[in-house]
Amino acid sequence: MSKSIQAIRGMKDFSPDETPYWQALEAQTRRLMTQYGYSEIRMPIVEKTELFKRSIGEVTDIVEKEMYSFEDRNGDWLTLRPEGTAGCVRAGIENGLLYNQTQRLWYMGPMFRHERPQKGRYRQFHQIGVETFGFQGPDMDAELILLSARLWRALGLQGLQLQINSLGTPQCRVQYREQLVEYFSAHKEQLDEDSTRRLHSNPMRILDSKNPDLYALVQDAPKLEEYLDSESREHFQALQAMLDAAGVDYVINPCLVRGLDYYTKTVFEWITDRLGAQSAVCAGGRFDGLVEQLGGKPSPAAGFAIGMERLFELVKDHLQPQHLPHVYLIGLGDAQIAAMQLAERLRDELPELRLVNHCGGGGMKAQFKKADKSGAALALILGEAELQNNSISIKYLRDNREQETVPLQKLQEILAQVLSKSGRV
Ligand code: HAM
Repeated sequence: MSKSIQAIRGMKDFSPDETPYWQALEAQTRRLMTQYGYSEIRMPIVEKTELFKRSIGEVTDIVEKEMYSFEDRNGDWLTLRPEGTAGCVRAGIENGLLYNQTQRLWYMGPMFRHERPQKGRYRQFHQIGVETFGFQGPDMDAELILLSARLWRALGLQGLQLQINSLGTPQCRVQYREQLVEYFSAHKEQLDEDSTRRLHSNPMRILDSKNPDLYALVQDAPKLEEYLDSESREHFQALQAMLDAAGVDYVINPCLVRGLDYYTKTVFEWITDRLGAQSAVCAGGRFDGLVEQLGGKPSPAAGFAIGMERLFELVKDHLQPQHLPHVYLIGLGDAQIAAMQLAERLRDELPELRLVNHCGGGGMKAQFKKADKSGAALALILGEAELQNNSISIKYLRDNREQETVPLQKLQEILAQVLSKSGRV
């Protein structure tokens, strides 16, 4: 026997037992997006490598060491998308969705990063992303935060902490950057390899270092807040006033700089202490310069993305999938063809009914076992006797109730009652 082939490390299958729970999470998300007036956009999974270099930034972990990039047969460099914002902006520009317009967009799908896999961190993972365009005020930042907060409530998720910060405009960051380089250069001997490398290329990322040896040094570093221009400061204060008015708790984290270069002004993360080292469940912010940077007419923009595996891990016990069949239909002996016809008729008459028609023959006992295992509430049995009498037998698989035989004309009514009675059946 040849050796079986395994999935790629950090990329996992979702079993048929799990997918109904994922579908429940996805259904909640779709409902919420519609409720807030957001439209779904679908972008390709592969984009030109250049797109991510120009948007996420050359000196970021993602672009430096995490992208799945390859040369295709035409000699073009392509990359499996590590995130959705860049592709969404590209699609928005290309399809004329952004110029002189406002857009509220969302997407959901797989992303790829060659990180070291661990709990909550995968090489193929999924994001729910939201991107808005044409809104420059803090009211949109607040809307994004309220939308995410509502999703947590809808999913019964408590205990996430909201952290916010302002990264100001690129102009006010120039002066801050100089101060930061001066400060860290004066303590160069304390920097680790990564930070030394970033000292001149991307010094703000040192603030985001996860190395505990750098903690004190980072805490004492100059704060960006002191370098914010008045516009950024007012924007940030107005956002805080809106969050206060909406009763949303938050913490200002001056070290929240995010790992992607396109952010301006507001950045935020929803974090948890329940997933070990992988604390961010949702992260985003404003990226007012990105549309222009990628060749579009300037348009303010803001958005966020949720890590679905992380969210799923936190809410899976609250999800209520609706996937088990109501009915398992068994046609015995010569009644098999009639059973198939009945199944199709019931699917016409009761489109909400989840009905599995037994296939594959087998003895009566084996068929009842399958019916039970399917999770169905009822087994319907059409045997030769029932066929002759124009009747059908009903076995209640979950209730302590005697099997009964009823006229076939009554079946639709009985099943309609079953459908309306409870959430599950
Ligand atoms: P990000 O912070 O790189 O931002 O990713 C957003 C979320 O995706 C993270 O908070 C985390 O929950 C999840 N995530 C990231 N990497 C992994 C991984 N390897 N395994 C599992 N989950 C992961 C962005 O991607 C931006 N595009 C967000 C954004 C949208 N900003 C503005 N608009």
